[in-house]
Amino acid sequence: MMITIQVLQVPSVVPEAYWDLFLSSVSDERRAQAARFIHQADAYRSVLGEVLTRVTLSELTGLPRKELSFSRNAYGKPRLVQNPKISFNVSHSGDWIALISGGTAELGVDMEKIAPIDLQIAVRFFSTQENTYLSAQPADQQLNTFYRLWTLKESYIKAIGMGLSMPLNSFAILPHAHQHGKHDWRCNQDGQIVRHRFYTHSLDEQHMLAACAVEGELPAQPEVVTLESLCAELT
Ligand code: COA
Ligand code: MG
Repeated sequence: MMITIQVLQVPSVVPEAYWDLFLSSVSDERRAQAARFIHQADAYRSVLGEVLTRVTLSELTGLPRKELSFSRNAYGKPRLVQNPKISFNVSHSGDWIALISGGTAELGVDMEKIAPIDLQIAVRFFSTQENTYLSAQPADQQLNTFYRLWTLKESYIKAIGMGLSMPLNSFAILPHAHQHGKHDWRCNQDGQIVRHRFYTHSLDEQHMLAACAVEGELPAQPEVVTLESLCAELT
């Protein structure tokens, strides 16, 4: 089965008629959680992440959207109760939501809004090799590179599904050069290249996206889903 990455841009205000429809499409737990967020943007991201997941997994499984339910492993990674083999993962940050899905190989996705930060904190999170790579980048590209590495590392952690119980500096994700100046990204953990594959993409100037699949081909581009088309799926 093909792996797809879907991205959805969340507006600062979701029209009320849409919002009611979205709220009625998620679990009771999600609805209750959405009501507790202080910032409406957090509620939007959380609810729309589940709506997009339900719509896509319903298409993949042929099961009705409302009959889908989710359980989580000890570290919080969700699974589809009705078909636990189906792989998917969600991320939300800033103005965007991302969903990776398809097949049964473990998948992870991470989206981060790029905000100015003290790059010194990277030294604490990253492995020695990653820090060497980061500090070798031109100064004006270091922030972007930091977020690229961060999202790649998160996508790997999320594919494995054990959260931060896996130390962030226990593995290194770095570009691997090919002929013709092309490269892909590879992860070295405890001296071994793991078989996971990676995808990295600057979604816009302020958002970095990365995805990881233990096997299979990652897509060349994410598929953009609009709020309108998501709403149309629900009616
Ligand atoms: N594995 C995979 N996916 C998980 C997960 C886990 N253990 N736990 C939760 N998720 C899923 C859920 O669907 C969750 O969304 P939901 O709660 O709305 O259903 C979604 O991932 C959240 O992902 P994201 O938006 O990318 O959040 P995050 O980046 O804040 O957190 C965690 C990702 C929870 C998996 C975890 O890795 C974490 O806490 N990271 C901290 C971030 C950090 O310090 N990063 C430094 C990297 S250098
Ligand atoms: Mg994240």
